[in-house]
Amino acid sequence: MRVDKLLTSVGAASRSEAAKAAARGEIKVNNVTLRRSDVHVDPERDEIIYKGEKIVYKEFVYIMLNKPDGYVSATDDPQEKTVLDLLPEKYKRLGLFPCGRLDKNTLGLIILTNDGTGAHRVLAPKNHVPKTYRFECECKLEDKDIEMLANGITLDDGYVTKDAVIKTDDGAKSGDITITEGKYHQIKRMFAAVNNRITYLERVSFGDIALDGSLERGEWRELTQQEEKLFK
Ligand code: URA
Repeated sequence: MRVDKLLTSVGAASRSEAAKAAARGEIKVNNVTLRRSDVHVDPERDEIIYKGEKIVYKEFVYIMLNKPDGYVSATDDPQEKTVLDLLPEKYKRLGLFPCGRLDKNTLGLIILTNDGTGAHRVLAPKNHVPKTYRFECECKLEDKDIEMLANGITLDDGYVTKDAVIKTDDGAKSGDITITEGKYHQIKRMFAAVNNRITYLERVSFGDIALDGSLERGEWRELTQQEEKLFK
C-alpha cells in the first residue's frame, strides 16, 4: 500500500498533506526518512512515523457514540446537525456512516463504521440482531397492550411487527423493549398502535454490544477489540 493511501485511510492526512509532509521529511518508514509519498509500505510490518507519531493501521474503524437529542443519523444534512458532527476532524475523512438510524430525538447507542460489509450484515433483517431501548410512555401499559407489543402488532401501514421482548417497571409507564427489526419510527408506531405515546427513547444495546455507561451524551470512543468481534 502507498504510504499516502495509508495515512489517508487512518485519517492522519489527506493525499496532498502527505506529499507535503514527505517533502519536508516528516514521514519515516523503519527509521528511514522518505522524500516522496508514493512509496509502498507494508502496513502490517513496517513502522511508520508521521510527524513524530507512530501510525497504527486498521482496515476499518468502529465507533460507539452516545447520541444526544437533536442530531440526525446521517452523514450530512443541509439543515440538521448530524452524528458525524460529534466526531473530531480526523474521523471525518474515513468515510464513516451510522450503522442504522435513530430518530432525531432518540438518544443512546449508535455505532459508526466504514466497514460496509459488516454493517450490511448486522442490519440485514434476516439476521434478527436484537436492539434494546429504554422507554417512557405517556399512559400506563395494560397487560393486553404488553401482550400485543410482544406478540406482533399491526402498524399504521399494515405491517405486522415481529415478536418483541418487553419488560415494564413498576407503574408500567417505562421499561425496556427489545426488537429485532428496524422499521421507520418502529417503537413509536408500535406504541401508537396501542393508543399510547413514547415520551423518551434511548437505545441501550445493539446485538451484544451495550452502551458504555461512562460515555456522556455526545461522547464517543472506538469499540474495544472484544466489541469489534461481537460486531463482526
Ligand atoms: N424506534 C423508534 O421509534 N425510533 C428510533 O429512533 C428507534 C426505534
